[in-house]
Amino acid sequence: MGRTSFFVSLLAVANCVAAAPWKGEIKKEHGVTYKCKCYSDNKCWPTGAQWAALNTTVSGALRIARPPGAVCHNNIGNMSTYDASKCSEITAKWTDEQTMTDDPIANLWPFYTNNTCLPTTNPSDPCTQGFYGEYVIIATKKEHIKIGVDFARDHNLRLIIRNTGHDFMGRSTGYGSLIINTHSFKDATFIKKYTGPGDWTGSAATVGVGVQGRELYRQAFAQDPKVVIVGGECPTVGWAGGYVQGGGHGPLSTIYGMGADNVLSFDAITAKGEYVTANAEKNPDLFWALKGGGPSTFAVLTSVTVKTFPEVPVAGTILNINSTHTNDTKVFDEGFRIFHNLSNHYVENGMFVYFELQSGRLHIQPFVGPRLNAKQVKEVLKPLFTQLDAKKIPYDTVTKEFPTFFEFYMDMFEDEIPNQNSVVGGRLFTQKDIAKNGDEIAKALLFANQPTNDTLGFSVGHIVNPGHGNPVVDNAIHPKWRNASSFVITNILMSGTESWELKQIRADQQTNVVGAALRKAGPDGATYVNEGDLNEPNWQESYWGSNYPKLLQIRKKWDPEGVFYTQTTPGTEDWDVIDYGTKLCKKT
Ligand SMILES: Cc1cc2nc3c(=O)[nH]c(=O)nc-3n(C[C@H](O)[C@H](O)[C@H](O)COP(=O)(O)OP(=O)(O)OC[C@H]3O[C@@H](n4cnc5c(N)ncnc54)[C@H](O)[C@@H]3O)c2cc1C
Ligand SMILES: *[C@@H]1O[C@H](CO)[C@@H](O)[C@H](O)[C@H]1NC(C)=O
Ligand SMILES: *[C@@H]1O[C@H](CO)[C@@H](O)[C@H](O)[C@H]1NC(C)=O
Ligand SMILES: *[C@@H]1O[C@H](CO)[C@@H](O)[C@H](O)[C@H]1NC(C)=O
Ligand SMILES: *[C@@H]1O[C@H](CO)[C@@H](O)[C@H](O)[C@H]1NC(C)=O
Ligand SMILES: *[C@@H]1O[C@H](CO)[C@@H](O)[C@H](O)[C@H]1NC(C)=O
Ligand SMILES: *[C@@H]1O[C@H](CO)[C@@H](O)[C@H](O)[C@H]1NC(C)=O
Ligand SMILES: *[C@@H]1O[C@H](CO)[C@@H](O)[C@H](O)[C@H]1NC(C)=O
Ligand SMILES: *[C@@H]1O[C@H](CO)[C@@H](O)[C@H](O)[C@H]1NC(C)=O
Repeated sequence: MGRTSFFVSLLAVANCVAAAPWKGEIKKEHGVTYKCKCYSDNKCWPTGAQWAALNTTVSGALRIARPPGAVCHNNIGNMSTYDASKCSEITAKWTDEQTMTDDPIANLWPFYTNNTCLPTTNPSDPCTQGFYGEYVIIATKKEHIKIGVDFARDHNLRLIIRNTGHDFMGRSTGYGSLIINTHSFKDATFIKKYTGPGDWTGSAATVGVGVQGRELYRQAFAQDPKVVIVGGECPTVGWAGGYVQGGGHGPLSTIYGMGADNVLSFDAITAKGEYVTANAEKNPDLFWALKGGGPSTFAVLTSVTVKTFPEVPVAGTILNINSTHTNDTKVFDEGFRIFHNLSNHYVENGMFVYFELQSGRLHIQPFVGPRLNAKQVKEVLKPLFTQLDAKKIPYDTVTKEFPTFFEFYMDMFEDEIPNQNSVVGGRLFTQKDIAKNGDEIAKALLFANQPTNDTLGFSVGHIVNPGHGNPVVDNAIHPKWRNASSFVITNILMSGTESWELKQIRADQQTNVVGAALRKAGPDGATYVNEGDLNEPNWQESYWGSNYPKLLQIRKKWDPEGVFYTQTTPGTEDWDVIDYGTKLCKKT
């Protein structure tokens, strides 16, 4: 036997008994040996010719991924990037949500991009790629997504699906990755009678994954008769991307449930690159998991069919307590306790409440009263006003009513400002905990305004009980949502350019100082995978409760190799982003 054929037959044997050899680097960190995805400094990184061939198969839709601030800098690596007019444009629009979501790769909450290439007036300031990817496919057809998934899988690349870049937890950015941008999938079609599998025979809409919240509300409002969809409160968050796969709460959730409760069917592309439909009849396991089991975990969605409901009249109330009214911390804190302690009362009356809390500032905009008029909303809020008045707590408030949800939404919800930095955490408080520990919960939330002597906090609250009074839907969201009363996001504010060490300290404070206080005050509660702590202890239980084991099985079936990855989603236990937040690697 010649040498060559000897090795060939050995290889053949090896291939029979083991998987194909790992394409990628073996790295060690903290005593763990890892097999990593392929990065540009590895031999297994695709050649220029392979990237060019990929570009051809996606009809020229491949781009080098450029941080949005690069146009303000002379160069990134050896590439010139400066463009004075584009720089002044991006600088002017840095806090405009729509501009940022339209960018191919920008992340609106840039903490996890590492902020290494921000807009500047000094072009010689350094600009590096940070934790942005290397290439992006601006997909305009389903085939482009499939080709991207296949390329990432076959070359062992980190794959990022990026829709709006809204994610608070850095899940639409990733160092050294191939990004697939789904922002162009803007089609939405509405039907009066759903005839697909399942019990629903009412109206429905099939929504492309690039459609954003307010666009969808606007199109629903344009139907005859007008309809509504359960969506989020922010105008530019994607509807059929991360939002629905994480569960999705919103202003109409107390009467109509979570976004994921209303899904009738998904069209998706699997980790193997297969086109699939998932609904009550086809691939029911995938159908169940995609309804709240976590984004970028089981498949890439291309469109989602969802129930629509008749438009409803809505009345809303705004209430402020801030330095205009009082600078007395005791007075302010008592006002917040009174407001938050009534969470069960608001949801029992079908309401949803959005509020912002920081030291000395409570901004409730708005209380949402679906199917209620102004008089009825004021009646529901009477215990709040009565208690505030009895304790001589100053505030101001205004109530308005609208014939439809859409008109209410456009008038009473505010836009949000991107490019702020924070470390995020949060907790869902159940009705039981509010009734039992209402004061402790309020105290923990007030504590989160300044959790340590060198940090400041900012919280965003949602008082909601998805599907209050409606039948419970069998899906992947944490069962505790059905008993929810208040879900609050806590932030430790950052500049975003702190040292690596300080970022770790702040993350630890979010988890072990703020998070510990929230868990102690709300032991019956849970957490929300779209708006939670990346280092949440026992995240499997905390994000999904008793649904986790089934989700893990489904993940193993549909993505056994780990083509998809976002932190703290089912089946990612063996994966870590190592080397100072850069390389995604699997434990061996
Ligand atoms: C200002 C603001 C307001 C918010 N308001 C609400 C709210 O009212 N209710 C609520 O429930 N949540 C809300 N969220 C959280 C929101 O649900 C998540 O940030 C969600 O992940 C955003 O999804 P996206 O597709 O728009 O964003 P992206 O950042 O583009 O994507 C988020 C995640 O989804 C994955 N993903 C995107 N598209 C697809 C796809 N087609 N297939 C598979 N995976 C995909 C991405 O890979 C990533 O992991 C809000 C967030 C922000 C920043
Ligand atoms: C892909 O092709 C298009 C059209 O030919 C071209 O404009 C673009 O620069 C190419 N992308 C890359 C990464 O080379
Ligand atoms: C620019 O840098 C890239 C990546 O480091 C390298 O592959 C390429 O050869 C460089 N090009 C020039 C002209 O120096
Ligand atoms: C990320 O930012 C930290 C500072 O917080 C810096 O030390 C590190 O080099 C950066 N890494 C990358 C890949 O940009
Ligand atoms: C305080 O409340 C008033 C309304 O009473 C509002 O006009 C003002 O903007 C608020 N201030 C802050 C800092 O939120
Ligand atoms: C609170 O303090 C601010 C700043 O000193 C001041 O402008 C404001 O009038 C004070 N508010 C009240 C109610 O006294
Ligand atoms: C909050 O509710 C609890 C239990 O119902 C009650 O004991 C407490 O006094 C209330 N606190 C406030 C500030 O309303
Ligand atoms: C902040 O708190 C830390 C730890 O509790 C303490 O060591 C430090 O002295 C405090 N700093 C200030 C300025 O109060
Ligand atoms: C939680 O909600 C479910 C469904 O509404 C209900 O059956 C159950 O009793 C509730 N559990 C608690 C502890 O309140």
